[in-house]
Amino acid sequence: MIAAQLLAYYFTELKDDRTKKIDKYLYAMRFSDETVRDIMCRFRREMENGLARDTNPTSNVKMLPTFVRSIPDGSEKGDFIALDLGGSNFRILRVKVSHEKKQNVQMESEVYETPEHIIHGSGTQLFDHVAECLGDFMEKKKIKDKKLPVGFTFSFPCQQTKLDEAVLVTWTKRFKVSGVEGMDVVKLLNKAIKKRGDYDADIMAVVNDTVGTMMTCGFDDQRCEVGIIIGTGTNACYMEELRHIDLVEGDEGRMCINTEWGAFGDDGSLEDIRTEFDREIDRGSLNPGKQLFEKMASGMYMGELVRLILVKMAKEGQLFEGRITPELLTKGKIETKHVSAMEKSKEGLSKTKEVLTRLGVEPSEEDCVAVQHVCTIVSFRSANLISATLGAILSRLKDNKGVPRLRTTVGIDGSLYKMHPQYA
Ligand code: BGC
Repeated sequence: MIAAQLLAYYFTELKDDRTKKIDKYLYAMRFSDETVRDIMCRFRREMENGLARDTNPTSNVKMLPTFVRSIPDGSEKGDFIALDLGGSNFRILRVKVSHEKKQNVQMESEVYETPEHIIHGSGTQLFDHVAECLGDFMEKKKIKDKKLPVGFTFSFPCQQTKLDEAVLVTWTKRFKVSGVEGMDVVKLLNKAIKKRGDYDADIMAVVNDTVGTMMTCGFDDQRCEVGIIIGTGTNACYMEELRHIDLVEGDEGRMCINTEWGAFGDDGSLEDIRTEFDREIDRGSLNPGKQLFEKMASGMYMGELVRLILVKMAKEGQLFEGRITPELLTKGKIETKHVSAMEKSKEGLSKTKEVLTRLGVEPSEEDCVAVQHVCTIVSFRSANLISATLGAILSRLKDNKGVPRLRTTVGIDGSLYKMHPQYA
C-alpha cells in the first residue's frame, strides 16, 4: 500500500516537474488573460476597418456582406438539395422540411471524394466533378427529372452582391484550383451542369459554412445570431446592423456578415504572438503570408504544429533521448485527430504512446506525459485565440443593441470542435 502511494507520489511529482518544464519551454504559446483581452481589442478594430468604406479596401479582415437578412423562424418548408464543398468532406444532401403534425426535417446525404488532382487542378475540372457528383446523387435518389432548388455551401471567402452570386476572393485551406479566383462560382457550376444536359438545377443561394451553421442553429433557436466553424479552417459570421455596413445600400434591419477572421494578422498585427513554429507552418503552406490566424487556430495545422515542436525538442535532447526518426521528420505525420486522441482524459496517455511508437521514437513514460502536455498547450492556444475573436464579436453585438448584458446563442460546428475532447 505504502509502496503504491509512494509510486503515485513520485509519478505526480515527476509529471508536475515535466509539465512545468514544458510550460516554460512553450511560454510564448501560453497567453495571459491580458494578452487574450488585447487580441480581442485588436480584432474589434479589424472588424470596424472591414465594415467602413474608407478602410475596407486595405483591411485584411474582409467582413463580407452575405445578403442573408434574417435568421429562419422555423416556419420554412420545402424540398431542397444542398451542396457542401470546402470542409473536410464534399457532401450532397436532399433536405425535406415539412410541418405535418410537427416540424419535421428529413435528410439523406452522400459523401463524395475530392481527389488531390481535382483540388489542385483547373476550375473546369473541379466544377465538372461537382456537376457529375450531383448527377450521380440525383440518379440515386431518382429525382433527375425534378428541378429542385439548390443551396450551395461554399466554404471560401466570396464577394457577393446578391444571394445567388458569389465571386471567389481567394482559395484557402487545401484548395488551389486555377482559374476560379475572381469568378462567380454559380456561373461556373451552372455552365458545367448545362454542358452535361442530363438534368436541371436551380442554384438559389450560395452561403459560407459559417452562415449555414448560424441558420441551421437559428432554425431551432431564434436567438442564434453568430455562426462559427472550427474545423479544417476557421471563420465566423454574425448579424450586423445594416446602417453600419457601408458597402451595402440601406439603413433598416440587419445583414449577416462573413468576417473571414482566418485572415486576421495578415498585415503583421499578430507578429508579437506568432512563434517560430507558426512561421514554419506558413512557409510550408499553399498560401504563404495568408490566413495567419487560421494557421494558429484551425485543425488543418494543429497536428503539424505539434510535430514541429516535438522535432525541435528531440533535436535539443529534451525528448526521446534525442532520437529522431524519418517518420518524426515527415510533414503531416501527426494529424489533428491524433492530437485529439492524445488529449483524451482516460486513454490519452496510451494513445500518445501509440502515436509516438508509430513514429518510431521509442517513447518513455515521461516522454508521453511531456508530449501530451505539448498537445494541450497547442489546443488551448487555439481555443484562447477563438475566444478572443468571438469575444470581439459578442462585445460588438452588445454595443449594437445598447444593452448592459447580452443574451445570445452561438452556433458552432467543425471537425476540430466536435472531435476534440476538451475544446468546447
Ligand atoms: C475560409 C472560410 C471558411 C472557413 C471554415 C476558411 O479557410 O476562408 O470561408 O468559412 O475556412 O471552413
